[in-house]
Amino acid sequence: MRLKDKVIAITGSGSGLGRESALLFAAEGATLVVSDVVPGRAQAVAKEIVENGGTAIGIDADVRSEADMDNLVATTVDHYGRIDVMWGNAGVPEPGFGMQPLHKSSLEDWNNIFAVNTTGIYLAWRAAARWMIDNKRPGTLLGTSSAASFTAYPGFPMYTASKAAVNGLVRAASLEFGKFGIRANAICPTHGMSVNFALPPEAEVLGKSYEEMAPWNPDNRAMPLRVDTPPVIRDNAYLALFLVSDESRYTSGQSIASADGGQFARTSIVFPTDTGESDDITSGAIPDELRNEIER
Ligand SMILES: NC(=O)c1ccc[n+]([C@@H]2O[C@H](COP(=O)([O-])OP(=O)(O)OC[C@H]3O[C@@H](n4cnc5c(N)ncnc54)[C@H](O)[C@@H]3O)[C@@H](O)[C@H]2O)c1
Repeated sequence: MRLKDKVIAITGSGSGLGRESALLFAAEGATLVVSDVVPGRAQAVAKEIVENGGTAIGIDADVRSEADMDNLVATTVDHYGRIDVMWGNAGVPEPGFGMQPLHKSSLEDWNNIFAVNTTGIYLAWRAAARWMIDNKRPGTLLGTSSAASFTAYPGFPMYTASKAAVNGLVRAASLEFGKFGIRANAICPTHGMSVNFALPPEAEVLGKSYEEMAPWNPDNRAMPLRVDTPPVIRDNAYLALFLVSDESRYTSGQSIASADGGQFARTSIVFPTDTGESDDITSGAIPDELRNEIER
């Protein structure tokens, strides 16, 4: 049990990486506070954990709301007496999922992507750090960045900027909070990520990676590591497991890629290479059914 007795809150954990990690952490002995902006998603994950013999509650919470993030910490402490880990994981993609050129974007688009991807982590971390410092119970802060923060995904300029800002916050927060014994890190996923990210909020939570949804042929992908099976969401959850456990007690201020080296080439999803006027977009590894959903 690598997380015995740890109380962990995760934002955006009703689907994808957050959900998969919540299930993994619970199996490793942690108590989970699952939260999500889509009503019912968090409760469904908490139910799954409890049915498997774990301990969890689910809360509806929007990371863009200061009140919701303060309430997430307050509810965690009310229920379980403390908070050991706050993981700001919720994120949203570029509007149009790679098909909207930057010069056609709106300020509203920009503000919303930063509100969720960057400010959302600030608000979640700040609420948790306040409690940890006031109560002299140092813990761990984790954020979900992206391999996009190290490069730039074509068609994802605002997303790239919002995630690069997360890496800056990680470095700054580790300096600010280190003297209180609080660590701050980020996981920067590349492959093996949730297809729900590309789907509307009302879509069923699939719990699968993009690569699992398409016929698997590593030779057709920009993935240097040629492994026989597609990367799955749990491949990323294992890095998160290390970063929230005491095994990483001497790791802070780091934004670490969970990747096979492909982030230095391009992603396994073939994003459009032309973000200008052209409608000529290659669907690449995205299965047609998913592409149709995205374009809807
Ligand atoms: N899927 C990818 O391609 C990919 C790649 C790299 C990094 N990421 C990052 O991973 C993180 C998790 O995404 P995922 O891939 O598991 O996708 P996902 O869509 O399956 O899960 C994200 C969850 O966040 C929730 N959410 C969205 N906005 C929210 C808000 N304002 N407040 C609270 N919850 C909110 C969604 O409802 C969803 O349940 C995100 O930060 C994302 O940017 C995703």
